[in-house]
Amino acid sequence: MASKILPRFSRCVTHPSRLPRRSQCRFLTTTPRVASEALQVHRDSPENNPSIPFKFNAINQKLIAEILKRYPPQYKKAAVMPLLDLGQRQHGFTSISVMNEVAKLLEMPPMRVYEVATFYTMYNRDPVGRFHVQACTTTPCQLGGCGSDKIMAAIEDHLGIHPGQTTEDRMFTFSEVECLGACVNAPMVQINDDYYEDLTPESMVTLLKALQATAHATGAAGGTAGIGGESETGMGQRKGEGRDQDGKSGEVDGQAARGYAAKGVKLPSPGPMSGRKTCEPFAGLTSLKEEPWGNEKLRTDGAL
Ligand code: FES
Repeated sequence: MASKILPRFSRCVTHPSRLPRRSQCRFLTTTPRVASEALQVHRDSPENNPSIPFKFNAINQKLIAEILKRYPPQYKKAAVMPLLDLGQRQHGFTSISVMNEVAKLLEMPPMRVYEVATFYTMYNRDPVGRFHVQACTTTPCQLGGCGSDKIMAAIEDHLGIHPGQTTEDRMFTFSEVECLGACVNAPMVQINDDYYEDLTPESMVTLLKALQATAHATGAAGGTAGIGGESETGMGQRKGEGRDQDGKSGEVDGQAARGYAAKGVKLPSPGPMSGRKTCEPFAGLTSLKEEPWGNEKLRTDGAL
């Protein structure tokens, strides 16, 4: 009806040919500049190139057979992540040879394995030192306790390296990482497979000194043993992990003195360096201190 009353008007308003012409200029899009090429590019180097042979050792081959049983044969490529992890633990880092071997075992294109290994920062595609110190700088760690800025500064001052670098003796690699899931014990660092939490600059330096002393004492400095690679499988093995009988971890000096041994290196006990057992309130229980009302009951073993 409206078009009968105002046919000409409606046509001239809506017809696209009457719309004002826009410039046909098209802009080229560019990808944002990448500050680091570490995650993007592989460049052959003497220690990381496809001509370096890599085979899984006997123990890892058994583990791989066990892992592959968890998946239907046609989906065995789903095992790419645990196999890359085993390769990294055995070799010290996820080299191109490790990735190629995983691709061969799982019958998948090498590019698919590279895509996984380059996506997850936990796969180190370059050699790392004997101790890989990963400091979390995400917001809770930045704000918790003394703050991760002070921990970063303490590590840099003590080791003389910046994030992304390895000490000359190849004992320490220092990395800045995102949240490691221990925010309630902020600030914290991960060293190889272990978390050290509730840190202060002083306890951080004490921890690094303890690692240096124990590694030097056993002549285990240097090399690219990498992530927790202490056993033949590369899995860290904790022997006599030092906790008090009540489970209290104690202060850092005592913690460094107790520790546990792995491949001849005595490591400080991981966990909170403040004396907390885990993440309980510093001032003791703040709730669940008395019998709750209603049908709820406290445990009868006296634990609560
Ligand atoms: S923010 Fe550091 S562990 Fe979560």
